[in-house]
Amino acid sequence: MKRFSAKVLCATIIFCAAANAVAERETIAIIGTGDMGDSFGQRFAALGYTVVYGSRTPDSDRVKAVVALTGHGATVTTQKEAARRGDIIFLPIGWPAMETAAQSLGNLDGKIVVDPSMPWTQGDDGYPESMLETSSAEMIQQWNPGAKVVKALGTMSSLLIDHPDTVDGPVTIPIASDDRAAKERIAQLIDEMGLDPVDFGPLRMARTIEVLQMIYLIPLMQRRSTEWEFVFRRNADWACKWGDDWSVDVFDADDLAQMPDKQKPPIPCQ
Ligand SMILES: NC(=O)c1ccc[n+]([C@@H]2O[C@H](COP(=O)([O-])OP(=O)(O)OC[C@H]3O[C@@H](n4cnc5c(N)ncnc54)[C@H](OP(=O)(O)O)[C@@H]3O)[C@@H](O)[C@H]2O)c1
Repeated sequence: MKRFSAKVLCATIIFCAAANAVAERETIAIIGTGDMGDSFGQRFAALGYTVVYGSRTPDSDRVKAVVALTGHGATVTTQKEAARRGDIIFLPIGWPAMETAAQSLGNLDGKIVVDPSMPWTQGDDGYPESMLETSSAEMIQQWNPGAKVVKALGTMSSLLIDHPDTVDGPVTIPIASDDRAAKERIAQLIDEMGLDPVDFGPLRMARTIEVLQMIYLIPLMQRRSTEWEFVFRRNADWACKWGDDWSVDVFDADDLAQMPDKQKPPIPCQ
């Protein structure tokens, strides 16, 4: 009979602990089963999270097909029940529907709520403009004061969630929240998705993020024959060029970037 050394036994215990950690991963509720919702669902389920979709029509054939495609034990229920079950709640819902949806999910106290939405409308001149004076994320926070709202994952298309490696190198995802721990948790999730999270500061910075998102709407509204993929990306060349000599005049506000960088160190300067 094979005898196991203490080292192998230890490795087995560590493996079991890791397997348990995966088994105990949070439940992610995805409210809305559209283009973004089903991309998030499939990605998180494949990463080992328990996915529960929240839909207005959980019994419809379309939604059942989304759940079947997601696999990995994903389920669907009503939006409110999914929010109750979720530890992390994603809101891939358009505006103005978000207004009612985000106020109808029950008690979200202590839960991380991720807002990837873009509250845009078409202005009189045909170009996109924000529907809000502040931001979608701040509105959601105002309606759910006990929740930990995070703005993230709306600055790229659903195609990049499905296939993060279709562009040449990791795409940076800006994150804003007033809750540091929630921001760090979502940064970890984004890292697991093969994307590159970056701390964009407090929740009010969602206003800037939501404007960034509108860039790729413009060719769409111009009815161009092709579409553009907008990607925000690190560039190590700036550090090579500037070294420690930051020529941009900014006052030192101390510890503005709360999260450590998750990406590997930049390639050495040429
Ligand atoms: N698609 C992208 O590539 C992309 C990229 C960046 C940001 N975004 C933003 O992400 C959000 C979702 O986009 P999407 O493309 O996934 O939209 P979508 O395909 O239209 O899906 C939105 C989903 O929201 C739910 N919904 C619709 N009306 C609702 C209402 N009145 N009350 C409650 N739920 C409602 C529906 O789910 P049920 O039918 O299951 O209820 C619907 O499938 C938008 O704010 C969009 O601007 C999208």
